[in-house]
Amino acid sequence: MTETMQAVRLRGPGVLALEEIARPEPAEGEALVRVHAAAITRDELDWPLDRLPAIPSYELSGVVAAVGEGVTAVAAGDPVWALTPFDRDGVAAEYAAVPAAVLAPKPASLSHVESAAVPLPALSAWQGLFDHGGLEAGQRVLVHGAAGGVGHFAVQLAAAQGAHVAATCSPASAELVRAVGAEEVLGYGSLPSEPVDLVFDTAGGAALAGSPRALRPGGRIVSIAEEPPEDVEAVYFIVEPSREALGELAAMADAGKLTPAIDAVFALAEAQAAFARSMEHGKRGKVVLGVLGD
Ligand SMILES: NC(=O)c1ccc[n+]([C@@H]2O[C@H](COP(=O)([O-])OP(=O)(O)OC[C@H]3O[C@@H](n4cnc5c(N)ncnc54)[C@H](OP(=O)(O)O)[C@@H]3O)[C@@H](O)[C@H]2O)c1
Repeated sequence: MTETMQAVRLRGPGVLALEEIARPEPAEGEALVRVHAAAITRDELDWPLDRLPAIPSYELSGVVAAVGEGVTAVAAGDPVWALTPFDRDGVAAEYAAVPAAVLAPKPASLSHVESAAVPLPALSAWQGLFDHGGLEAGQRVLVHGAAGGVGHFAVQLAAAQGAHVAATCSPASAELVRAVGAEEVLGYGSLPSEPVDLVFDTAGGAALAGSPRALRPGGRIVSIAEEPPEDVEAVYFIVEPSREALGELAAMADAGKLTPAIDAVFALAEAQAAFARSMEHGKRGKVVLGVLGD
C-alpha cells in the first residue's frame, strides 16, 4: 500500500479539488477500506461546511485492506459496503478509514458501482417508510421524487412490502418509476386516485408543501428532503447507519428483489461534474464515483 492516496476534498462552498494526501491509518475499532466505488447525494456538499477541508460521499463499496485494534467482525480481503458517519471525512478517495461497526458484506450479485449506490438511499427509504412511516402491507403510499436516489428504492421497498405505490417524478422518468413497481405514476402536483396512508417525500419544496392534500385523515407525512414548512405536519429525520438493515438489503439484492438504478458514473477526477449532475432534475437513480471502475 502506498503512503499517500488520491482524495476529493471540499475546499469551500461547492469547490472541489482532487488532492494527494496521506493515506489514513485505521484507529481502534476501524477498518481501512480500499474504495472501489463511492456514491454521492444531492445537496451533501452543504453538510460539512463547518469542517473544511472535507472528503465528501458517505456511501461506499470496496474491500477491507487492513483492520485496527479490536476489530474482529471484518478482515482484510472482505468485500464490504456501508453508509458511513456524516460527522467525519467521507469516502470519495482511494482509501477510507471507517468504523468497522457500520461495514456489512456487500451483495455478491452486484458490482461495486451498483453496490455503492444502495446503502445511503436504501437505508433512508427503509427507515422513512417503515421506522418513521409505519407502512404496512395493503396500505397506500405516495413517493415524491420517485426516480431519484432515495425515491427509486422507496418504490421498490414499499412494493415488496405489499403496499400500493403511487409516485411523482419528471415525465421523462415515468417509465423507470413504473418499472421499479409504482402502480400510479404522476406529475408533481397531481393527486393519487385515492388518499394515501403515507406520503414519503424526497423532493421537498412544493411537493412536500402540497403533501397534506394527498393524505387520508390520520395519515402520515415523512420527509428526508427538508424540514417541513410550519403549516405541514410531517416527520423529518436523518438516516442512521445500520449493519443489520444492510444485511437484509444485501439479501434482497442477491434475491433479485432490489435493483439499483445508476444514473451516471464519473472518475474521482471528475467529481465536480459528478456533483453538478447530482443537482440536476431528470436523474434516473444514483450518481456514482467509480474509483476503481468496477
Ligand atoms: N435526511 C436524510 O437523512 C437524507 C438522506 C438522503 C438524502 N437526503 C436528501 O434528500 C434529498 C433527496 O435525495 P436523493 O438522493 O433522492 O436526491 P435526488 O436523486 O436528487 O432525488 C430526488 C428527486 O427530487 C426531485 N428534485 C426536487 N428538487 C430538486 C432539485 N433542486 N434538484 C434536483 N432534483 C430535484 C428530482 O426529481 P425529478 O428529476 O423527477 O424532478 C429528484 O430525482 C436530497 O436533498 C438529499 O440531500 C436526506
